[in-house]
Amino acid sequence: MSHTEQSQVNATTAYTAPDRLELGVCYYPEQWPREKWAEDAARMVELGLEWVRIGEFSWALIEPQPGQFDWGWMDEAIDILGRAGLKVILGTPTAAPPKWLIDRHPDILAVGPDGHTRRFGARRHYCFSSRTYFQEAGRITRAFVERYGAHPFVKAWQTDNEYGDHDTIYSYSQEAHRAFRLWLAERYGSIDAMNEAWGTRFWSMRYRSFEEVDVPLQVVEEPSPTHLVDFVRFSSDQVVRFNRQQVEIIRAGSPGRPITHNFMSHNIDFDHFKLSADLDVASWDVYPMGGLINGRLSAEEKERLLRTGDLDQVAFNHDLYRATGRGRVWVMEQQPGPVNWAAHNQSPADGMVRLWTWLAYAHGVDMVAYFRWRQAPFAQEQFHAGLLLPDSTPDQAFHETAEVARERLLLPAGENKGKAPVALVMDYESRWASRALPQGRSYSASAICLDWYTALSRHGVDVDIVSQQSDLSGYRLVLCPDLLIMQEDFPERLKAAGAKALFGPRAGSKTVSMHIPGGLPPGPLRKLLDMKVTRVESLPSAAGEPVRFGNIAFAAGTWRESIETGETVLATFEGSYRPGMPALIGNGQARYLATIPSRELLESLLRDSLDWADVAWMPDLGDIRLSRRGNLTFAFNFGTEAADLPIPAGAEVLFGEARLSPCDVTVWRQ
Ligand code: GAL
Repeated sequence: MSHTEQSQVNATTAYTAPDRLELGVCYYPEQWPREKWAEDAARMVELGLEWVRIGEFSWALIEPQPGQFDWGWMDEAIDILGRAGLKVILGTPTAAPPKWLIDRHPDILAVGPDGHTRRFGARRHYCFSSRTYFQEAGRITRAFVERYGAHPFVKAWQTDNEYGDHDTIYSYSQEAHRAFRLWLAERYGSIDAMNEAWGTRFWSMRYRSFEEVDVPLQVVEEPSPTHLVDFVRFSSDQVVRFNRQQVEIIRAGSPGRPITHNFMSHNIDFDHFKLSADLDVASWDVYPMGGLINGRLSAEEKERLLRTGDLDQVAFNHDLYRATGRGRVWVMEQQPGPVNWAAHNQSPADGMVRLWTWLAYAHGVDMVAYFRWRQAPFAQEQFHAGLLLPDSTPDQAFHETAEVARERLLLPAGENKGKAPVALVMDYESRWASRALPQGRSYSASAICLDWYTALSRHGVDVDIVSQQSDLSGYRLVLCPDLLIMQEDFPERLKAAGAKALFGPRAGSKTVSMHIPGGLPPGPLRKLLDMKVTRVESLPSAAGEPVRFGNIAFAAGTWRESIETGETVLATFEGSYRPGMPALIGNGQARYLATIPSRELLESLLRDSLDWADVAWMPDLGDIRLSRRGNLTFAFNFGTEAADLPIPAGAEVLFGEARLSPCDVTVWRQ
């Protein structure tokens, strides 16, 4: 199969959703004496776990010498875990190739953005374009599948581990150069076409052949945005191709077992929709404390939410990966306590592990596995909590897991996540486009998107994340906070679906080749809206440009567009610069926002748009969040104060209190 081919491996029906939330844990038998394995397995079952994930870093111990396999320990571990009653998720070990393999084939190593070769000594030290590594990854996957593909206790597979962790999608190696040139030749057919697309008549950047093209590394000014975005497209395709090889091997040799990969929080380095198309179930790794520290919030908010995390970042990712997984999503690693890898590593408040587990279920997750069973007393992650302390004493998360295991029996079986009234479009190509041309340092599409999501969540509105290609029927409102590269048929499909739509600034502002569209932005969207964008500016702070919406003058934000329009003007810029120009315009079907708004303005606009699309919303929920799964409504308190819940008359509370304490959960059925 060629590496740019996007046809997906037929995702099988290997996945059946469980009736109730299932629980699991990540376990490393190779890190503990054999005498402990049986006791560990028995305690896992006693705790209420169904699943155990093993093996994803086991290569050097399974194949200690080239071609010599030591399966004994893994056979025994799987046997002990399976006999205890656990279902094994087996990880292919390709995230960490052994030293002897690297020494034999140094071309496996990736080259980082500093131009230096990355070295052995941790993990993810490989380049997706290395031909040797592609073969070796296939060889070890085949060996695993031949050994365990039909094993009665192996019930699911995970490919590799966290593609993209430690910034490892982009490699600038010779192998990457070679593959990038082939990819470009296939995409463009002729060097003239590529020169045209990249705009190389600018600054004398013209190429005579694909052989002359390099990966975009260490050039003096910024590279052509098309060069950059093509390199990301290429790198994304390389990951899809790498993963697909493993999926094909597993599917052929281990039929009926679902295949997953564990994604990371909102990583945009490759297209997760494309990669997920080959999986039976998507999964992701939930580390809310690190997510808070590295995330979008102000220093004051981070302080306030220090031990509970960003209220919406985790939920957003559940919704995102539920979308990439076509409704099927697991949590493969749930943070159980402090971790070791963020700028600082605070403990979650007691109760949060339970809260996050129920939050996952409420957002459509079928299985939550904790990372990890027991805290490691050696190597890099010694400070990382587990369900057990290094001496096997139960830690806080152990008790909270036990509570979840009991509580799940209080809920009816078979409740599934239904369709939300609102869809939010997440488009990876558009992300790459704005990363290549941010037009101002503070521009962050991820933060913008999450801010829109938050504004809805504060008002208790359930949201589905969708791709640009998704079926839009059934949605009342479709939100496109950052749809820079809009497909030509998107406006028609929106119209056919009968959905109303709100577009953020920059919608349709770039063609696939990263050019300004011929008829000016918003490009294809001009089919729905009579408008064009004639000027774009980025601004230093949120306070600068007042916007009048209704009777209120709001602080606008860090972005402003000048637009000419024949549509109704719904809000206007009121600063000293071009006062009276439209900030929000629209007609019966679509609205366009010409600014990145302040939070207050955003909330006001979204409330108004929900009314416009006839979607019900609730008064500001503050630090409470609600999420619905089937007939169940889950309420979560991320704050420090107890709060009264809006439980409707006649609803039956299944567990929890009507006055919800901090870090607590209540569930009711309607
Ligand atoms: C994840 C990774 C795990 C472990 C964990 C620690 O990113 O998949 O192997 O390192 O982080 O939090």
